[in-house]
Amino acid sequence: MAKKVLITETVLRDANQSLMATRLPYSDFADILSTMDKAGYYSVECWGGATFDSCLRYLGEDPWERLRNIKKAMPNTKTQMLLRGQNLLGYKHYHDDVVEKFVELSIKNGIDIIRIFDALNDFRNLETALAAVKQYSKKYNRHVIASGCISYTQSPVHTVEKYVEMCKKLVEMGFETLCLKDMAGTMSPFEAESLIKGIKSAVGNVPVILHTHCTTGMAYMTITKAIEAGVDVIDCATSCFSNGTSQPATETMFYALGQYGIDCGLNEEAINKVNDYFKPIKQKYIDAGTINPKSMATDSQALVYKVPGGMLSNMIANLKDMNAMDKFDEALKEIPAVRKDLGYPPLVTPLSQMVGNQAVTNVLVGERYKNISNEVKNYFKGEYGIAPAPVSKELQEKILGAGNEPTDCRIEDQKRTGKDFEDAKAALGDLARSEEDIMSYICFPKQAKEFLEKRKAAEENVCTYSIEAI
Ligand code: CO
Repeated sequence: MAKKVLITETVLRDANQSLMATRLPYSDFADILSTMDKAGYYSVECWGGATFDSCLRYLGEDPWERLRNIKKAMPNTKTQMLLRGQNLLGYKHYHDDVVEKFVELSIKNGIDIIRIFDALNDFRNLETALAAVKQYSKKYNRHVIASGCISYTQSPVHTVEKYVEMCKKLVEMGFETLCLKDMAGTMSPFEAESLIKGIKSAVGNVPVILHTHCTTGMAYMTITKAIEAGVDVIDCATSCFSNGTSQPATETMFYALGQYGIDCGLNEEAINKVNDYFKPIKQKYIDAGTINPKSMATDSQALVYKVPGGMLSNMIANLKDMNAMDKFDEALKEIPAVRKDLGYPPLVTPLSQMVGNQAVTNVLVGERYKNISNEVKNYFKGEYGIAPAPVSKELQEKILGAGNEPTDCRIEDQKRTGKDFEDAKAALGDLARSEEDIMSYICFPKQAKEFLEKRKAAEENVCTYSIEAI
C-alpha cells in the first residue's frame, strides 16, 4: 500500500457540476480560496468541463477572468481543468489551431494541470492538446502537467489488459500522469483493485489518479481498494458537496487514511474550514431548488441496468413525454444492443444521449434502425473518431452505402486556416477586447456574444439588462 495518497478537491468544478448543474458563481467561493490555498491539496479542479459554458450562459461571468481570479487567490495550489480533447469544452471537433490557442490561453490565464480525455478513448483526439501543453508550458516558463485521461466503461471488449494497453500508450505519447475517469460511478472495488494493480505494474512511477462518483454507492470501497493497489491521487469533494452524484468526501478520506498511516498532506484545520464555509452555500441552493435532493442520494440502478443514472432518467423522461412507459423494459434491453452495434462506446456525453435516443427510437418505431438519428449517422461517418470495437457492418453499409468507409476525423481537424479566428473577429467587431473574448465566441458563439454585449452595455452605463439578467 502506498504511504502517500494525494487528494484533488473538486468542489469548484465536478461537485458543482454534478450536484448543482455548475451554477456556482465566483462570488460564492471567492472568500474561501485563500483558505483552500493552505489546505495542501494535490490540486483544485476549478475550471473546464461545463464551467466555461455555465459562466457565459447562466452566470454572466467571463470564464477567463474567473480563472485568473482563482489563480491569483491560490498562488500555491495547482489549478486543474478538464478538457475534452479535440472537442475542447464543447461538443464538436475544433480545428487544430483553435485547440492550440485554447490551450495556450488556458496556460496564460493560470491553469497548472490539464486533464485531457476523449469520449471514445480515441487518443488521436488528445494529440494536439498534448503537444500544445508542452509547447506553451515552455513559452510561458511554467510547468503545466498534461494528464492523460481514460473514459472508463464496462463492456466485453473493455478488459484490464485493454486499459493497461491504453495507459502504456498515453505514457508513450508523453502524458505525465494518468487518470481513470469513472463518470458513471460503476467501477466496483474488485475492478479497481485489478485495474490499478495492472496499470501500476505496467507504467512504473507514472502517477495514477482515480476519478469516480458516489452515484451507485461504491466509491468509498472502490477508492479504498484502489489505494491498497497503489493509486497515487484520488478525487474528493469537501464533505457538504460530496456523495450522491458527486465525489467521496475529502475530510472522510483524510480521517480514514490517517489510520492506515497514509499521509494525504492535508491541513486538517483548513479542510474543515472549507467545509464550514460551503455548508450555508449548499443550503442556499437546496432552498432555491438548484440542488435536487435526488442528486444527493445513492442510486444503484446503474448497477442493475448497466446504464449510467443520468441516461436512465433521461430515457424515462422521454418515454413519459411520449406516453410510452410501457416500452420501458424493451427500450432498456435495446440499449446494450445499440451499444454493441456502435462498437461499445463509453456511455458518456455525447455517446450516452446518442445510444439512448436511438434505442428508444428503435423500440417506438417497432423496427430497428428504420429511423436513424443524424448523430448516429455522423458517428458512423467517422466524425467522432474510431469506435472502441468493430461496429455493425450491416448498419455501416446502411448508413454509408456499400463499400464506403468512414472518413478520418483528423483530416478535418488539421485544416489550419486561421479562418475560425478571422470569422470570430469579424462577427464580434469592437465587442472583442482580447484573444480570450474571441476564443469564448469560437466555443459558444451565441452565449459569448450576449455576454460581451452586456459587458459593453454595462461599461457604457446603459441599462439594457432585463430583470432576470441582473
Ligand atoms: Co466526473
